[in-house]
Amino acid sequence: MLDKKEVGEKAIDYVKDGMVVGLGTGSTVYYFISKLGQLVQQGLSIKGVPTSKQTEKLANELGIPLVSFNEIEQIDVAIDGADEVDQELHLIKGGGGALLREKIIAAAAKTFIVIADSHKNVNKLGTFPLPIEVVPYGVEMTIKHIRELGGSPELRKKDGTIFLTDNGNYILDSSFQEIKQPKELEKNLNLIPGVVDNGLFVGMADAVITIVDNKLVTIVRR
Ligand code: A5P
Repeated sequence: MLDKKEVGEKAIDYVKDGMVVGLGTGSTVYYFISKLGQLVQQGLSIKGVPTSKQTEKLANELGIPLVSFNEIEQIDVAIDGADEVDQELHLIKGGGGALLREKIIAAAAKTFIVIADSHKNVNKLGTFPLPIEVVPYGVEMTIKHIRELGGSPELRKKDGTIFLTDNGNYILDSSFQEIKQPKELEKNLNLIPGVVDNGLFVGMADAVITIVDNKLVTIVRR
């Protein structure tokens, strides 16, 4: 918990007055958004673009002004968590089911900063089952295609019922054991009809704020 708070609050350094800020989803970004809310109360002027309904609700509660894509030209900085981060700063995201909007917002941001507690750092991606967002229609066939790429997809459920994303889609949590070529897998999964997007974020993070050997560090992409 302390880890998450530390990295989350550190990300405030990337926010400057007047910016449009992409607001991620999850328990780490919660600390960033809470701090941002405090600064807004003290007079900081920013506009947020939320990656999920959950984040939209939190931002509204904290009085952070929000805008939608049709009101802005670009996002100055996006801050978000991750489920796994490798040494090249490639990511697995989507543990909270918000991967599609998270990817759209990260791709629209001039700078994309990831905040990750020490448990998220891995040598190879893939221990965390990769979340894949799929349309409900034909899901059995989509599952078959993901298996052909080496994955073991499980339909995500919450409280006994099928989990629906903010976009009305399903999530297939797909274990790949060890992902040797994340870029290829990201592309190949997205070529499957029925797949909307997947939680591999390859070459997107500009920097990762994390904890290594009990020290807060910022690792910048080479
Ligand atoms: C949400 O869909 C995810 O991509 C989160 O960013 C990721 O799961 C990290 O979440 P925590 O910060 O809660 O670990």
